[in-house]
Amino acid sequence: MGRFVWGSVVLGFVLFMAVPGAFAWSKEGHVMTCKIAQSLLEAEANEAVKNLLPDYVKGDLSALCVWPDQIRHWYKYRWTSPLHFIDTPDNDCSFDYSRDCHDSHDAQDMCVAGAVQNFTSQLLHYREGTGDRRHNMTEALLFLSHFMGDVHQPMHVGFTSDEGGNTIALRWFRHKSNLHHVWDKEIIAQALKDYYEKDLSLLLEDIQRNYTDGIWSDDVPSWSHCNDLSKCVNMWAKESIQIACKWGYEGVESGMTLSDDYFESRMPYVMKRIAQGGIRLAMILNEVFGDSQEGFAAAT
Ligand SMILES: *[C@@H]1O[C@H](CO)[C@@H](O)[C@H](O)[C@H]1NC(C)=O
Ligand SMILES: *[C@@H]1O[C@H](CO)[C@@H](O)[C@H](O)[C@H]1NC(C)=O
Ligand SMILES: *[C@@H]1O[C@H](CO)[C@@H](O)[C@H](O)[C@H]1NC(C)=O
Ligand SMILES: [Zn+2]
Repeated sequence: MGRFVWGSVVLGFVLFMAVPGAFAWSKEGHVMTCKIAQSLLEAEANEAVKNLLPDYVKGDLSALCVWPDQIRHWYKYRWTSPLHFIDTPDNDCSFDYSRDCHDSHDAQDMCVAGAVQNFTSQLLHYREGTGDRRHNMTEALLFLSHFMGDVHQPMHVGFTSDEGGNTIALRWFRHKSNLHHVWDKEIIAQALKDYYEKDLSLLLEDIQRNYTDGIWSDDVPSWSHCNDLSKCVNMWAKESIQIACKWGYEGVESGMTLSDDYFESRMPYVMKRIAQGGIRLAMILNEVFGDSQEGFAAAT
């Protein structure tokens, strides 16, 4: 989600303190990523995930996948704010971990690619019984699940000077928006409105059909293939900046109006990134909580 304070954050926080269920307001991309992932979990991983979730979500991971966006401006969690994105050099269209994965004070690893590795490794150590007790494994699961969504949102790996498209103000059809928000939300909302009767579960089913026996089904094995997590995460971030360059920024300037042409041509990328994020999150969780963990031997 956008990296600026949402008007609703404070209110959301107050509500959360009072009513745990208020957590569950929907941020469609994250919710779908997590629903896809959970549907692909093997029994053992699903059990482990359910055990880490608080009772009130009744085993539904997606109910808490937006939590990291809700708490990022809270004092205790301010350190998590840089973990939602990566700033790459303007117009370079590349991602280099050692060059780009840092926060604005140059603290290394403080970016979404570092965070995915960090929380995966915390869960692995926990699974192996060598975890650091200071780390909260419920939070590690929620951060990992959320950041797997973020690293797949192309504009979360964007250019530095425009803050991933946040400062590129434009119109989306008739209302004001910005380029970052178009990719976070507007395209999904428009798709829901135009094609899915505003019903998120219909959209989700269509995405699921497309990776089980539709247009992406041949690609799924390559999407989820991963021997070395750090290399994979870097690759996913590279995919994002490349899509951001080619399809996000391309032809867009501040003050423009984006409408049908942009929507129709970009929607397939948004949907594919949601599918990839979900499938890869499942891959990680199955690897971490399944029987064989050789795959991620390299994670520290
Ligand atoms: C990893 O997580 C710990 C807390 O669980 C945090 O202190 C540290 O800054 C995190 N680092 C990254 C790169 O996410
Ligand atoms: C772990 O974090 C969750 C969410 O912040 C919190 O509700 C829970 O009490 C924490 N657990 C422990 C053992 O601190
Ligand atoms: C699923 O694939 C069909 C083409 O077979 C396409 O028209 C549709 O937009 C795709 N749906 C999603 C959500 O990607
Ligand atoms: Zn986020």
